[in-house]
Amino acid sequence: MGDPRPNELRQEYESELRAAHYRNNRWTLSPRARRTDAREQAIVESFLQHAAAQMPTGQPITQILDLPCGTGRFRTMLERNCQEVWSGDAAHEMLMQAPPTTGVQMSAHAIPLKENAVSAILCSRLLHHFEHAAQRNAVLQELARVSQRWIILSYFDAANFQAWRNRIRGKFRGRFPITLRTFQSEICAAGLVEHKRVYIARGLSEQVWVLLEKKQSE
Ligand SMILES: C[S@@+](CC[C@H](N)C(=O)[O-])C[C@H]1O[C@@H](n2cnc3c(N)ncnc32)[C@H](O)[C@@H]1O
Repeated sequence: MGDPRPNELRQEYESELRAAHYRNNRWTLSPRARRTDAREQAIVESFLQHAAAQMPTGQPITQILDLPCGTGRFRTMLERNCQEVWSGDAAHEMLMQAPPTTGVQMSAHAIPLKENAVSAILCSRLLHHFEHAAQRNAVLQELARVSQRWIILSYFDAANFQAWRNRIRGKFRGRFPITLRTFQSEICAAGLVEHKRVYIARGLSEQVWVLLEKKQSE
């Protein structure tokens, strides 16, 4: 039998109410949520600009796949910085709330696209939902297979106050921080190298953003 976790996680988001909450409230209700959203938009935009500056022509990214796109939080910013934005998410209900409705239902564990199909992939707020290395590795390998070069990713880091407090409290949140060493060995195994790293609040909060590049074969 396959690993049930990816399907269980998708089911958590297959709810009209939860999807509507994510679209309408998750990033707007509190000042902290608004600050985090603004900061994440700025980080992703700066990574895209850095990636574009590395291209021989300095052209913007051609196609970016936003997976999981959730309810399309990043879409406007991605359209500003990339020629084409493709969207995918495992949960149909999340896609139904994502304007415009061009997203395709897909799993990051088995992306229905051929190798090197897009110039870049944005994978925001997915990896920390997986406890086991095999679950994360399957995602990282799919991202490396489908992207020609760039991957923008967030994950939860274990070395900060928030992760430490959750460990002490023994609270199960379905969120799994990992050490820097684990992250580095997992991206290396997927054939990726790290270009840039930005902590949302270093030492305090778990969320980390990285710009990864696929190792080019000789
Ligand atoms: C916390 S939300 C993040 C959404 C969006 N990336 C953002 O930052 O606003 C997590 C999303 O992952 C989706 N998801 C869960 N498992 C997935 C999988 N295996 N492949 C693709 N999407 C998945 C959920 O449906 C949900 O939309």
